[in-house]
Amino acid sequence: MESSYEYGFVKMDDESFDRLSTFVTREYGIKLPISKKSMLESRLNKKVKSLGLDSYKTFLDYLFSKEGMQAEVFNVIDLITTNKTDFFREAAHFQFLTQDFLPRYQQEYNRNALKIWSAGCSTGEEPYTLVMALEEYRRRHPELTYSLLASDISLRVIQTAFQGIYTMDRVENIPMEMKRTYFMRSKTDADLVRVKPQYRNKIQYKRINLMDDQYSLSREDYDMIFCRNVLIYFDKQVQERVLRKFCGHLRRGGLLFLGHSESIMGMSLPLKQVRPTVYQVTT
Ligand SMILES: C[S@@+](CC[C@H](N)C(=O)[O-])C[C@H]1O[C@@H](n2cnc3c(N)ncnc32)[C@H](O)[C@@H]1O
Repeated sequence: MESSYEYGFVKMDDESFDRLSTFVTREYGIKLPISKKSMLESRLNKKVKSLGLDSYKTFLDYLFSKEGMQAEVFNVIDLITTNKTDFFREAAHFQFLTQDFLPRYQQEYNRNALKIWSAGCSTGEEPYTLVMALEEYRRRHPELTYSLLASDISLRVIQTAFQGIYTMDRVENIPMEMKRTYFMRSKTDADLVRVKPQYRNKIQYKRINLMDDQYSLSREDYDMIFCRNVLIYFDKQVQERVLRKFCGHLRRGGLLFLGHSESIMGMSLPLKQVRPTVYQVTT
């Protein structure tokens, strides 16, 4: 029989790939076509070896045991998810929010205490961008207050977001004045900055699997949901299910922001498009 262990690299057999991808898609919505096999193999290799195992079959037998599900499933999800993100990613969204939408929304719906949810927040750049955009807006509209919920399936990224520590290259595109206002430099490492505590405190974190039947959040309570570049990993049916749940958590007139390559086309949802990839609840 062909060995699955070659030069210290554990090869993934097709059956193991099927077992793992079926589990990940069912539990977390993330599609894993066969073209992702080598990506999966290389991301999980270190983990398999660190457990002293020499095949994916034995690794999955362990992972799907009661013990493995408790000890390892979180680590595996951390390794499988794609967490690419940036400060001020798709900047047009934040411009539209603060320059166009918010003044109207505050008046029309008499809302001065916003509740915003960043669903699939990754390492925190999206919710911290919202803090910066809203704080800048508050200079002109001090009557506005806000609270931010940031959630993700991966505990590793939530921890990074909570800490709010970034390398210099991550913040290089933020204007200098804003960097001074919202970040402080590390005293021990010239390459690190940290979001100031008064701005870190604006965000609450929660681990939420968007595949769950219900989210433990109040209904019709959010003014805005940002779920950008997350649904792209799900198939169309799962996307529609998640979006329907989001609609139930948005207030009348509230907004849903999706990523640049995501859309609600072909879905029957109580949403109307107000900008590219920005939708408003119609009910
Ligand atoms: C590419 S990042 C997007 C980050 C940010 N929203 C942005 O646009 O820059 C996608 C995030 O979705 C999260 N994710 C994937 N599947 C998820 C699920 N089932 N429930 C919650 N979050 C999920 C991943 O862990 C990852 O951090």
